[in-house]
Amino acid sequence: MTQERNRYIVALGAPWRRGVSAIRRSRDSPRLREQLRSATRQRDRARRRIDRLVERAAVLRADRADARAQSDENRRLYIELLKGALTHTLYRPLDIGARSDYVKRELDDEQARVLGRDWPQFAQTMVGVARLENIQHCIETVLRDNVPGDFIETGIWRGGTVIFMRGLLRAHGDPPERLVFAADSFQGLPVANAEEYPADAPFEHINKPRAGRRPDALDPSLLAVSRRDVQRNFELYGLYDDRVRFLEGWFRDTLPTVRDRSWAVIRLDGDFYESTMDALTNLYPNLSVGGFLVVDDFAIGACREAVDDYRREHGIEEPIRRVDWTAVYWRRET
Ligand SMILES: C[S@@+](CC[C@H](N)C(=O)[O-])C[C@H]1O[C@@H](n2cnc3c(N)ncnc32)[C@H](O)[C@@H]1O
Repeated sequence: MTQERNRYIVALGAPWRRGVSAIRRSRDSPRLREQLRSATRQRDRARRRIDRLVERAAVLRADRADARAQSDENRRLYIELLKGALTHTLYRPLDIGARSDYVKRELDDEQARVLGRDWPQFAQTMVGVARLENIQHCIETVLRDNVPGDFIETGIWRGGTVIFMRGLLRAHGDPPERLVFAADSFQGLPVANAEEYPADAPFEHINKPRAGRRPDALDPSLLAVSRRDVQRNFELYGLYDDRVRFLEGWFRDTLPTVRDRSWAVIRLDGDFYESTMDALTNLYPNLSVGGFLVVDDFAIGACREAVDDYRREHGIEEPIRRVDWTAVYWRRET
């Protein structure tokens, strides 16, 4: 601040000094002396004014730094609140839902929900806190590094993770030209096609066409959430707008329609070999370098097999990083 002040003073002082030496060079007269005194008073007033302005600028700079710190803290609090609300870990009583095969016996209900090892009754996402933190890491990294492209999740169930993606965009000031795509059948898992995708054989019992039912009729209880309900969940968070795009239908039909878009973050959560492979085939070629591919279901053999096959067939060598007990991700390098 002293340096800044001195710079101003030196700049303002130059004409004054020239005036003084001109007067000194001229004949010494009372009129010129009076002019010199008056010029000195003016210079001193100007110095005081500069001092006040420099102090004011320092206060404004400090205020701006405080406002930035406050806005960072507000953003952090909002994102934490979103995680707690979407996973329902914020609320009591606990959200005790169905325990999937992956729930370890030694986990209590609270741990199961935090780790996303259950199928919750109320939470808008079945993933746990670490997987939301991974989404946050991926999105904040691509925003910081200006990696181009949109965000997509294939397999959204009640919409919690795509709501989180939209919330992160909002929290970061809605950078232009970023959309959030939410792909789902909105009628649950497909009927497993083990003939074409043998890895999906363990799912054949799910939604299995039974005698007397139409062959494509699904068991509505298995992960079926209507588009209307997902939209309502977005609206509950005030996050439903034209940056959110639903891709309704089976991945094999919907994902080819967005093949030409570029992606910054792709999150796969469709469980099956077929669902995972459909998503990789249609989306991965347009994942930007520096973008992220996240796989929620690496703990499921069928999904893992699809990821391994795709990586092998396409020579993908980026190291796979672990998120938690099931999810993995990698960052595209080439
Ligand atoms: C495990 S849930 C997704 C969980 C969700 N990501 C969350 O945050 O809670 C799997 C979803 O994938 C959808 N799905 C799976 N395979 C699909 C396919 N081939 N086409 C369309 N939707 C599919 C199901 O309808 C279901 O909503």
